[in-house]
Amino acid sequence: MEPVKIGLLGLGTVGGGTVRVLARNGREIARRAGRELMIAKAFTRDPKKPRICSTAGIELVSDPWQVVEDPEIAIVAELIGGLSPAKELVLGAIERGKHVVTANKALIALHGNEIFARASAKGVMVAFEAAVAGGIPIIKVLREGLAGNRIEWVAGIINGTCNFILSAMREEGRAFAEVLKEAQAQGFAEADPSFDVDGIDAAHKLTILAAIAFGIPLQFDRVYTEGITRITPEDIRYAEELGYRIKALGIARRAKNGIELRVHPCLVPARRLLANVEGVMNAVVVKGDAVGPTLYYGPGAGAEPTASAVVADLVDVVRVMTADPENRVPHLAFQPDALSDLPILPMGEVETAYYLRLKVADQPGVLADVARILADHQISIEAVIQKEPKSGQEEVPLILLTHRVKESAMDAAVAKIERLPSVKAPLHRIRLETLE
Ligand code: NDP
Ligand code: HSE
Repeated sequence: MEPVKIGLLGLGTVGGGTVRVLARNGREIARRAGRELMIAKAFTRDPKKPRICSTAGIELVSDPWQVVEDPEIAIVAELIGGLSPAKELVLGAIERGKHVVTANKALIALHGNEIFARASAKGVMVAFEAAVAGGIPIIKVLREGLAGNRIEWVAGIINGTCNFILSAMREEGRAFAEVLKEAQAQGFAEADPSFDVDGIDAAHKLTILAAIAFGIPLQFDRVYTEGITRITPEDIRYAEELGYRIKALGIARRAKNGIELRVHPCLVPARRLLANVEGVMNAVVVKGDAVGPTLYYGPGAGAEPTASAVVADLVDVVRVMTADPENRVPHLAFQPDALSDLPILPMGEVETAYYLRLKVADQPGVLADVARILADHQISIEAVIQKEPKSGQEEVPLILLTHRVKESAMDAAVAKIERLPSVKAPLHRIRLETLE
């Protein structure tokens, strides 16, 4: 049989990794797919730029439409990133009856509903395994492996850059900015790294995970998003003293009245496997009603780990490209006409525990005042650390862990605590999840 011709849009970290993996494992991959996969054409803005891969045998073009419009190309792999021109190119490929593989979580999270509708109308596939958690096949797990379950919650470390930074701050005491530079040099970080550290990249990924887990439309604008830029070395130290690690988590949970969708730093008990995921590694815990909690761990970014997911999608597409579109796995796991309109809960309705750090005057009665306000809002305290003042200082840190409470009750209590004359700076809070 003739090889399947693939066109690459983008020849950077992921595109280059994809070329390398296909070149190295081509024979093994052909045995799996039933046909040879051949990268015929690749777009890059600068065909002369040095690459991480050999481009021998690939026609390099500097106009991406030369890939999309080539009638010989059956599958287009979009590995550019961002929304434009990626969206126009993906829709252009779909309109021309080509299947698409993409690593672009921003594109899927924001425009996936439209893209999948167009793809279904044209009878083509859009595969996006590499868009979430790099090399971990979490899309396949949720869409196929756990299809017998009612998913209760998904919680994961789904941004490698944030985990790399938090790990280096905790293990080596390194400064935030210096570690971020290293993540950029290693090719993990997004083109605009604020997407990583402000939680936006994780929110893109959580949007996709939640849609597939619960059978809801992609709703990026409903995800509560908080980054890691306010986490200080002292928070990391106090958390450790209390038996916790701080991780940037994406959490999607089926609650009584709707779905929680949130990305934020979080204290996790140090004994949990998730708390021990370090560096650029990602991990996702999925709790299904039948299977119970399951954990998926692996590299969340980087050239070849991400290429591993891109190539797996290419193989999947090649295997079923001649099958009746009705018999393919739906893009979002659930049949498009069976998506549910479960509401996404506002943060005020979310129930979680908290770590609170206050700077208070070193005088009697302060802890009692804070405890009284918390009690007035039915918030009970789980643990307290109060440090001796450093010599010459009149203010001391006060650290509290609380039991679970609705965020709206905590907001009200925090507003009152911050008005106490003995509280000397805005209270710093980090959510805490035991993941039981
Ligand atoms: P790179 O920046 O390394 O490569 C991007 C490629 O797209 C390059 O070939 C570049 O051209 C081209 N390109 C960039 N901007 C434009 C533009 N505005 N118009 C046309 N072409 C453009 O990105 P990555 O390989 O890291 O990322 C690609 C995708 O994969 C993104 O969606 C990213 O989020 C996703 N991803 C990345 C991971 C990683 O570890 N890096 C992991 C998982 C997903 P040129 O070659 O001329 O520079
Ligand atoms: N910037 C992303 C991360 C790349 O650090 O996780 C992988 O999606």
